Amino acid sequence: MASRGEFSSRTAFILAASGSAIGLGNIWGFPIKVASNGGGAFVFTYIILTFLLAYPILMAELVIGRHAKADTVKSMAKISSDKTRWLGMSTGYWGMLTASLILSFYAIIAGWMVAHALGSLLSVAGVSESWFVSDSLARSAVFCVIFFVLTISVVANGVSSGIEKWSTRLMPILILIIVLLIIYIATLPGAAEGWKVYLQPDFSKVTDPSLVLDALSQAFFSLSLGVGTMMVYGSYISKSENLPRLGAAVAAMDIGIAVLAGMLVIPAIYVAQHNGVVIYDDAGNLIESTGLIFNVLPALFNTMGAAGGIVSILFFVLMSIAALTSSISMLEVPVAYATDSHDVPRAKAAWLVGIAILVFSILLVLNMSWLFGKVVNFATEFSEPLIGILFCFFVGWVWRRDQLLGELQEGNPQMQETLFWKIWPNYVRFVCPAIVLALLIRSSGLLNF
Ligand code: TRP
Repeated sequence: MASRGEFSSRTAFILAASGSAIGLGNIWGFPIKVASNGGGAFVFTYIILTFLLAYPILMAELVIGRHAKADTVKSMAKISSDKTRWLGMSTGYWGMLTASLILSFYAIIAGWMVAHALGSLLSVAGVSESWFVSDSLARSAVFCVIFFVLTISVVANGVSSGIEKWSTRLMPILILIIVLLIIYIATLPGAAEGWKVYLQPDFSKVTDPSLVLDALSQAFFSLSLGVGTMMVYGSYISKSENLPRLGAAVAAMDIGIAVLAGMLVIPAIYVAQHNGVVIYDDAGNLIESTGLIFNVLPALFNTMGAAGGIVSILFFVLMSIAALTSSISMLEVPVAYATDSHDVPRAKAAWLVGIAILVFSILLVLNMSWLFGKVVNFATEFSEPLIGILFCFFVGWVWRRDQLLGELQEGNPQMQETLFWKIWPNYVRFVCPAIVLALLIRSSGLLNF
């Protein structure tokens, strides 16, 4: 077997895994869900649910991965019993397929972000940017290819000189850009209104089941759960690390950036409204999310005069970076399988698998109107939660408890006395699967919340 990579330090893992978690889901999805779900009430529910539901499942993935030190298929086989091996391996394969499907649509949206970043740059330089910022088949296809080439190039270089190197470079830049933009937007007229909406929770909404379930699925998607990404990243963690602490750091980073992104996007929407940009449709609802990012915000940047160009570049570079550190973690799932289970050299695996998924992306671009939404729903509303339940099932019911404890004791010899060990095993056994099942039932439309 080709030698496996390992993250060179704790920080490297935290930045890479946070890079996976922090993506379009945080900077685009989260603020928009906040804006359409009662402001601060959603933020509050989301934070609680991330710790109560998503963090325990993140831990399940990390601990399986670090125990097996292998791709998702081998890892799941390793913790299975003889009778459940087929199910474990199928879960691993299915995770891989889901990661690939998510990458196929994610890369298209990410491509638009890169196109807008380049378009803003050209417009500041005085060159016409209209091809880059208006929707067309050609633009989607070209930038999807560009985004794939970026993603594949990073993954082809391996864990420490690819994924780790780029995550540790890009994540600090991402945080810096968010903070700069928050400060700038906060000084503009209209921003105060947005801050009010964001920070004043309407607690009467906290008990609204559809808000709770929206927050749940957001928490799940945002931590990149249910495809095996965190399992594979977990397999590159050294045995001397204390896993529950690392997982908590990743969850905290993910929440932190989502909350920061809200401080940027929500005030920005209200500044746009103040400047005369329409943000509500005729029915009084907030404009749908693609419109907000690709029309409302650019319209806002246009009203900002000279600063607008720079702000626009920064904003779309931010989006592109967030997307790239996530997309590499998606591609890593099938690539790890090719290298671990089939001994394909890493670079070759990255290009072969990457190009295969790219071909599917182009199919999506060509069939956007009917296929895109279906793939998004199948992968995120159905597959991710179901695989999440299976991971919990394996950790809670199948994996031998002494081996699970043994794995957690690596890097934390006192594990047995910790609060984590007293609560978590039964929690992933009963509570997590039950709640995620509720999520699934809702998205399958059986219950009408
Ligand atoms: N967490 C990422 C984001 O917020 C997106 C994501 C969802 C993801 N599922 C994933 C990333 C699986 C990697 C693997 O944008």
